[in-house]
Amino acid sequence: MKRRLVGILICLMMISSLLAACGKKDKETSGSGDKTIGVCMPTKDLQRWNQDGENMEKLLKEAGYKVDLQFANNDIPTQVSQIENMIAKDVDLLVIASIEGDSLGTALAQAKEKKIPVIAYDRLIMNTDAVSYYATFDNYMVGQKQGEYIVEALNLKSEAGPFNIELITGDPGDNNAQFFFNGAMDVLNPYIESGKLVVKSGQTGFTAAATANWSTADAQSRIENIVSSFYADGTQLHAVMASNDSTALGVANALTATYTGEWPIITGQDCDIANVKNMIAGKQAMSIFKDTRDLAKQVVSMVDAIMKGGDAPVNDTKSYDNGKGIVPTYLCEPVFADANNYKELLIDSGYYTEDQLK
Ligand code: BGC
Repeated sequence: MKRRLVGILICLMMISSLLAACGKKDKETSGSGDKTIGVCMPTKDLQRWNQDGENMEKLLKEAGYKVDLQFANNDIPTQVSQIENMIAKDVDLLVIASIEGDSLGTALAQAKEKKIPVIAYDRLIMNTDAVSYYATFDNYMVGQKQGEYIVEALNLKSEAGPFNIELITGDPGDNNAQFFFNGAMDVLNPYIESGKLVVKSGQTGFTAAATANWSTADAQSRIENIVSSFYADGTQLHAVMASNDSTALGVANALTATYTGEWPIITGQDCDIANVKNMIAGKQAMSIFKDTRDLAKQVVSMVDAIMKGGDAPVNDTKSYDNGKGIVPTYLCEPVFADANNYKELLIDSGYYTEDQLK
């Protein structure tokens, strides 16, 4: 009898500790479970933002948050009203990849008033003190790697040249574009100054090389004009420094349509599927691989730290001044991809399947 009683007691104790453990789990997840994170992406037109949005949604949900994910069709007023709606709905935190860095100040002043923290995703939001953190890939390093790739591919350290190069970069309203361009030009400029690299179009400055909205069509028509003015007589174009894949695609399209010389070295960024296919086909020499899964993971850990009342992890507190002060930043590291290493980087890592690249 006594034994039976002890047995029952032990059973009861086990059941109650099990129940307590379940209850504890409920409490822990309920901390994030009743919080909503607003995620604003610029557009669905470009592959990368779809991936960024999907990754963010998946990881935030896994961490127990509700997610309001919106894409703004590259239209600034649409993005502003999406943000205003989220603020009106009292989201707990905003993660924003802006279309145009300077257009969100007024909307974000409301976020600040309501004490809604804001993380700038990939692109810095300018001239507002409402941004708490910034997470991105090292944008200057992206440009440096593109420049260095060209230096190596043309063997500029030993060859006498001269080699012809043209430059194409991104949207002037995207703070990243300037960083990409400067990173590349800091590597290429000494060769331009010494005459080893020649920009026949003379379009060497950021403004001349910029592409509104990073548009493939605009990139294509600008390069078609350059080819017909400077390379139509068979003059060889050796390289095009393109800051990203949507512009690189425009370059490849333009050359296919108008250029008869030997195919130049073309750089890019993002490893979009169309561009990796071009890389495999020898129509684009390289792209920068920014593993958006890493960026999303980093941003979710920032969200979590902030929602728990702490400081978010950062590794750069000097590079990104948005006009109102330095924004503490986490920089992920970009790497270059080309026909030699893309399998390891993109397929073995599970970023793409082999079939997607056929
Ligand atoms: C991003 C690039 C992207 C470009 C065009 C930039 O802000 O950092 O990865 O190619 O926007 O969307």
